[in-house]
Amino acid sequence: MPRAVVAARYGGPEALEVVEIPAREPAPDEVVIDVRAAALNPIDAKRASGARGADPSKLPLRLGFEASGVVIAIGAPGLSGADGQPISEGDEVVAFRVPGAQADELNVPAKDILRKPPSLSFEAAAGLLLVSTTAEHALHVIDLKAGETVLVHSAAGSVGRATVQLAKHRGARVIGTAATRHHDELRAMGVEPVAYGDGLLERVRALGARIDAAVDAVGTDEAVEVSLALVPDPRRIVTIAHARGIIDAGGIEIGSGDPEGDEIRDAARPELVRLAGAGELIVPVVATYPLEQARAAYEFLAEGHAGGKVVLVP
Ligand SMILES: NC(=O)c1ccc[n+]([C@@H]2O[C@H](COP(=O)([O-])OP(=O)(O)OC[C@H]3O[C@@H](n4cnc5c(N)ncnc54)[C@H](OP(=O)(O)O)[C@@H]3O)[C@@H](O)[C@H]2O)c1
Repeated sequence: MPRAVVAARYGGPEALEVVEIPAREPAPDEVVIDVRAAALNPIDAKRASGARGADPSKLPLRLGFEASGVVIAIGAPGLSGADGQPISEGDEVVAFRVPGAQADELNVPAKDILRKPPSLSFEAAAGLLLVSTTAEHALHVIDLKAGETVLVHSAAGSVGRATVQLAKHRGARVIGTAATRHHDELRAMGVEPVAYGDGLLERVRALGARIDAAVDAVGTDEAVEVSLALVPDPRRIVTIAHARGIIDAGGIEIGSGDPEGDEIRDAARPELVRLAGAGELIVPVVATYPLEQARAAYEFLAEGHAGGKVVLVP
């Protein structure tokens, strides 16, 4: 029987279990994937904790939103994926957005499948799309243009890394906050790194750039205050981390689940997979764990400094 990671009750990593789930024939619009890798994201831990609603009737709660694997069954002939490519058994694919993706077998609507480029590992493919579609959505709402300067808070986090690379693709100057141990890596990506913490505003000002827009991927008071102090138009500040100060000042909050935003994210998937396949968008995998060690994987993610994707490998 297939197995899946669930929160057996609302709580921390200790509340997670790997349970057997019933296998199901694919519906006519679905394919079945033998999962090779499934990524973790902070939202999984938030959902498991009950911070996003603690309805007991939803327990055990399946976790995860993205995976990669090999197609092992197709619901009906002639199905195509989100990239418009026909899907066949044996295809190596990326699946996003798939609730409950942390499992070793998944039924997925064909519309949420894309062909995995051969150059991309299953692990990297599994962790690509949640963060990079978020990054693309953020850059879309701040309308970042070539020649402008953007400040990205938490540039070494997974969303931050995708954001800075996609901002560079747009031709922007990118300043990113991160712990100093990430600075060389960020410089190599064409980013001007600054350490977060006391004195951040002065350190950014010392770079002498007019800051046209900001992306907050961390939600700290510091990220709020520095963004509001530097960006002349608050509508060009976006928070993905629910920073109340940004929202109250007229900035923009984005999240998945808003239909307009999901449309932007879904439409971005094929190009993001193409860029990753071409080596032009890199979301590094920093740790892999067997499915059975999901608790350890969630514990590592909870430390908050992973600096890349944490991935389960069934
Ligand atoms: N709204 C949405 O649609 C959406 C989508 C995806 C994620 N999110 C949210 O966005 C946040 C980041 O997600 P993620 O996947 O990028 O997480 P992640 O990969 O775990 O990255 C977290 C990063 O935060 C950095 N950090 C920690 N403390 C910091 C501080 N005080 N100032 C600046 N950076 C700091 C760490 O960088 P250092 O190593 O440099 O310390 C770490 O790399 C989470 O809250 C997540 O739930 C929202």
